[in-house]
Amino acid sequence: MQSPEAPGSGFRPPFAHFATQAIHAGQEPELWSSRAVVPPISLSTTFKQEAPGCHAGFEYSRSGNPTRNCLEKAVAALDGAKYCLAFASGLAATLNITHLLKTGDHIICVDDVYGGTNRYFQRVAREMGLKISFVDCSKPKMLEAAITPETKLVWIETPTNPILKVIDIKGCAEVVHKHNNIILVVDNTFMSAYFQRPLDLGADICMYSATKYMNGHSDVVMGLVSMNSEDLYKRLSFLQNSLGAVPSPFDCYLCLRGLKTLQIRMKQHFANGLAVAKFLETDPRVEKVIYPGLPSHPQYELIQRQCTGCPGMITFYIKGELAHAEAFLKNLKIFTLAESLGGYESLAELPAIMTHASVPKEDRKLLGISNTLIRLSVGLEDIEDLLKDISQALNAAHP
Ligand SMILES: Cc1ncc(COP(=O)(O)O)c(C=O)c1O
Repeated sequence: MQSPEAPGSGFRPPFAHFATQAIHAGQEPELWSSRAVVPPISLSTTFKQEAPGCHAGFEYSRSGNPTRNCLEKAVAALDGAKYCLAFASGLAATLNITHLLKTGDHIICVDDVYGGTNRYFQRVAREMGLKISFVDCSKPKMLEAAITPETKLVWIETPTNPILKVIDIKGCAEVVHKHNNIILVVDNTFMSAYFQRPLDLGADICMYSATKYMNGHSDVVMGLVSMNSEDLYKRLSFLQNSLGAVPSPFDCYLCLRGLKTLQIRMKQHFANGLAVAKFLETDPRVEKVIYPGLPSHPQYELIQRQCTGCPGMITFYIKGELAHAEAFLKNLKIFTLAESLGGYESLAELPAIMTHASVPKEDRKLLGISNTLIRLSVGLEDIEDLLKDISQALNAAHP
């Protein structure tokens, strides 16, 4: 079955029963005594025990919470995973995964990674005795060459942020798994579980900043980690409890609610994103557009093979200099100038000064994160209004 909404229809077909899983997996009313159709928000921090050490599955809310449990089961189903664990933020998930390593171990991280992940690896993990290399993992040969006997973790993000380079997950998994004991993590924040399933492609861990598309309503900060290995699950559950960076039951409820519309939201993000990307591509005031859903993307064939569609993330270079980028951003009326992405509302930002300011200047230059690079998170508003907004802001920037 081909995805009817996938323009070009060369994309992989959508994952079967996705919306049904999002709505029902781990959320059957029989799971709780009230038979409430909506999973209850379980605020209690502690749970009654029948005898010391004898309980009905929950003891203390940091180690396990019924609402969090529902969310973890639903996300595991969507990722085609056996297990999922929820954390207080995407970076808390990154921190917990990094705690699987010990002093002297080596991490290979994709060069064009989210600024906060870059900052954490360079300025926190390195200080604690881990070795970090940033590598262009879009070239599996470069990844292979960077692996040392100390390498224990390979961290990729695809598409990368903000340059939207696409990394071949299967290709990386083949390189990584030639070696014993290296964990391949894919940050799947941009694609969401609806467009990309890294575990099916050979990754060991699929992680999300659920703050973005997975929740999708810009009202929760959260991280999610899915995996199939029981050993990894046991070690990460231990860390989840020991480090204590867990999300609140209310946030788990909100994210679970967000997931119910993930499929229809992502379809619309794709339709709107593609329309905006096509519009920008024909505008003479735009130097270059990068959108993995456009045939002009250098890895269009790979993205179709790897994913079932594309989200609303677009980067483009406006002609001119910083002043033109600033004028464009200042004049937007529907797009809000703000960090973050993946919510129902359209956002725009300047990575060099905002989300990626923590990436060293020389690295930004090498990656192409210039003062004229603008990142859009195209939301779910009516496309006519979005195109009109972009058009008038371009007019203001280039009168
Ligand atoms: C791709 C990516 N990964 C991880 C993170 C970190 O997630 P959080 O902000 O939820 O800690 C972000 C945040 O923007 C992100 O964009």
